[in-house]
Amino acid sequence: MTVAVYPGSFDPVTRGHLDVVQRACGVFDSVVVAVLINTRKSPVLSAELRVRIIREAVDEELATIASQVEVTTFEGLTVDLARKHEAGSIVRGLRAVSDFESEQAMAHLNREMAPEVDTVFFMTGLEHAYLSSSMVREIASFGGDVTALVPRAALPHLAEISSR
Ligand code: PNS
Repeated sequence: MTVAVYPGSFDPVTRGHLDVVQRACGVFDSVVVAVLINTRKSPVLSAELRVRIIREAVDEELATIASQVEVTTFEGLTVDLARKHEAGSIVRGLRAVSDFESEQAMAHLNREMAPEVDTVFFMTGLEHAYLSSSMVREIASFGGDVTALVPRAALPHLAEISSR
């Protein structure tokens, strides 16, 4: 059985992330979407809420492959997460050349720490290439419409951040 972990902040999960989950499920038997508990970054949504939103979004919008997807939180190193789940691959999405430099460094460093784990990149769909969680947060914080950018499950929680 082929297992991959897909780590990220997912603050919030976007349609671009879901696209990567869907395509990763076409390549791996099982995909563990792992929300980083990052105390330094002070996310707008709690880790538990981010997990709940991703689970709901996968169940609603990727129903046919939902059983292949596990959603969890993690702390510490991604390579330790991969080892814990006996995953041979780390999945990441690439939107544009601007993502490449940091992703390349991360992939090399992860490989240095865990040569048995490879990073597999999915080129984000062109329709999502402009999309980022930080842009979604900014639009939502000013009460803008993010319906086209995130799964339905995220909408009520993003509406809440504009009223904070
Ligand atoms: O969604 P993001 O914020 O781009 O995800 C970044 C993430 C979670 C993949 C990255 O920060 C990470 O792997 N953090 C865990 C700590 C770690 O393993 N660091 C070493 C990578 S060089």
